[in-house]
Amino acid sequence: MLADNVVPRRLIAAQATLDERINLRGYRRRVRHVLSELQRCVPDPKSYHPVLAGDRRAEPVTGHLCLAMGHDRIEGVASTTPSTSESRTALLSDIAAVAGTPCYVYDAGTIRKAYGTLDDAFDGYPHAIHYALKANSTLAIVRLVQALGSHADANSLGEVDVAFRCGFRPEQIVFTGVGKSAAEIDRAVSLGLLAINVESPGELDRIDQRAIAQGVQARVALRVNPDIDAKSHPHISTGLKSNKFGVPIDEAPALFREISSRRGLLPIGAHVHIGSQITTLDPLSKAAEAVVALARGLRSDGVELQHLDMGGGLGISYDGSPVVDPAEYVRALVAATRGSGLKVAIEPGRVLVGPAGVLLSKVVDVKQFPGAKRFIVLDAGMTELMRPALYNAYHRIEPLIRRDGDEVPVDIVGPICESTDAYARDRHFPPVEVGDVVVVRDVGAYGAVMGHTYLRRPLPPEVLIDGDKWRVIRRRQTLDELLALED
Ligand code: LLP
Repeated sequence: MLADNVVPRRLIAAQATLDERINLRGYRRRVRHVLSELQRCVPDPKSYHPVLAGDRRAEPVTGHLCLAMGHDRIEGVASTTPSTSESRTALLSDIAAVAGTPCYVYDAGTIRKAYGTLDDAFDGYPHAIHYALKANSTLAIVRLVQALGSHADANSLGEVDVAFRCGFRPEQIVFTGVGKSAAEIDRAVSLGLLAINVESPGELDRIDQRAIAQGVQARVALRVNPDIDAKSHPHISTGLKSNKFGVPIDEAPALFREISSRRGLLPIGAHVHIGSQITTLDPLSKAAEAVVALARGLRSDGVELQHLDMGGGLGISYDGSPVVDPAEYVRALVAATRGSGLKVAIEPGRVLVGPAGVLLSKVVDVKQFPGAKRFIVLDAGMTELMRPALYNAYHRIEPLIRRDGDEVPVDIVGPICESTDAYARDRHFPPVEVGDVVVVRDVGAYGAVMGHTYLRRPLPPEVLIDGDKWRVIRRRQTLDELLALED
């Protein structure tokens, strides 16, 4: 049986009339084909995560805006939300119907635009944008950013491998990590990466030894900790001396002299990253000025660097409040660096991909008892998106199709057995019913990558929209795959 909401009856009827005129046998064959294709997309009622019926592993799942499925169920309600255009609503409805929910959806155009804004703002000043893979390392997203001319910032051997698979060359990759294992150091040295961003004197020793053993010189950049308050969430601030990252900036000149004296090391840069989701320019400019001053001092000591890696950290507006304009940020970095003549490297993650992603989720329950809160329970929770549970992070949430009615305060929660599993508390929200799709915004960075499988919940699919077309870039994990490593 096909569910009403997945059969585009009008579409089939129109095709039928057309085909009947041409050839009845051909028409029947085509209708059968459309029906069987649709049957494969029916959410499995037994499964908590709706899955694509049948094994679609080998086939790319794609769609097009004109295949407007699932619209019968929304007749009689207002057809748009304030921030979602009608065509985008239809597209997201299609995706939710075909790929199931929860589901991550990214927009390629938004990523291209964000990259262009940063790149253009350098206005010819020598620079490299090393995309911080940790923000979103889904292969199709990394390939997209690579095709724009980006370089890469990798934080594990897994990310280094992803970078290679997506077309980055060793001399385009910087490798960062607060505690690099012996295996990581060995491989990073043997790959001849552009820079290993070094976190401690002990790590310098270990890299030197491995480089000498391999008969090479490792290019290193020293990560300095400038003791600057990024004024971000404490969990993602890294530039204070109370944080575990880098070496105190005052120790850096002596360490650079040490690096220059080592046979296995080549000093190529200074690196600073004071935190993430930084929403004011001041700490970012101060950090840049601090490394430029360091590089000037080193020059007079005879240590010549090739680049200053200013890290990532630029915040985005999750709630509509003002943030630093990315172009202004780049101009501030260039202004600070120009006098030194050194190349600027940056490692942006969130600002490139964050606003490009939404999470589609379905309402699975609505409940309220007298005198108590109203809860909207979604089929996505902290397993799919950790940020609210981990940092109390705010994400805008909207019903995909807005129903008429007043907004009331609600808690929007996930299905996980922990009270921290809430996307929003006391949020004013319009009426929704079980089965409605909601859109969680700005989840392109640190969303899917931080997802996990607590409660044996398979990882959700990811979809990439490009123009009016879309395709599944990671299909939903199956339970068998989730259990495949076990006895
Ligand atoms: N470079 C380094 C050395 C980093 O540690 C990071 C992020 C970046 C660059 C990229 O920073 P971005 O431009 O994305 O701010 N899970 C947290 C964010 C953790 C960021 C960790 N490091 C969240 O969901 O907000």
